[in-house]
Amino acid sequence: MVEISTSILSVEKENAIKTFYNLETAKTDYFHIDVMDGGFVKNNTVEKMDEYCNYLTSISNTPLDIHLMVNDAKKYIDMFLPYNPNIITIHYESVKNKNELIDLIDYIHSNNCKAGISIKPDTEVSEILDVLEIANIVLVMTVEPGEGGQALIPETIEKIKELSDYIKQNGYDTIVEADGGINIENVDQLKEAGTEILVVGTGLLKSDDYARTMKELKQ
Ligand code: DX5
Ligand code: ZN
Repeated sequence: MVEISTSILSVEKENAIKTFYNLETAKTDYFHIDVMDGGFVKNNTVEKMDEYCNYLTSISNTPLDIHLMVNDAKKYIDMFLPYNPNIITIHYESVKNKNELIDLIDYIHSNNCKAGISIKPDTEVSEILDVLEIANIVLVMTVEPGEGGQALIPETIEKIKELSDYIKQNGYDTIVEADGGINIENVDQLKEAGTEILVVGTGLLKSDDYARTMKELKQ
């Protein structure tokens, strides 16, 4: 059964408490926290995501799935570790070399947190095959990172299949997560390609019944 990680990027502050309560009641598996530094991507969501994490950890035990779209990963890992996230994901494109990537994964692990690597639509799966064994999760971007509400890029589904097949052939337990433009219309293709965690923002938040939509996405 796939899991749902609800992206709260587009939740407006005035609706946040009600929305988070409704998502919690609908049993989202994770809250997906999109941290953008205004450098790696043009938007800056640091303050808003920090505030949301502060609130969420005071009202809920639902795991946090932190997606860092930042240039200085270490700074933001340290900023969000106090919220005891379940997952912290860093972008392959934000590190200088493989050694830095491995050091950051080790650092996340040393803080009792799962480590994810995210790849942008234009980054080939082959770039990260040699670190799959130590990464808990690969977050395949199915849109260009930087904002919610975009349309899924169809070519990224083939990347998910390629990655999922490689993980199975090599007996790794790395989990494949997909992020961006996911909705009821395209979710079956993502599941068939091997996605195990679906990040959904707009496709869920626009629904008037989160529990029903989540059930439809999962089945
Ligand atoms: C985009 C973010 C995604 C996005 C998902 O940079 O990483 O998590 O918020 O939102 P939707 O589902 O609306 O594309
Ligand atoms: Zn994200």
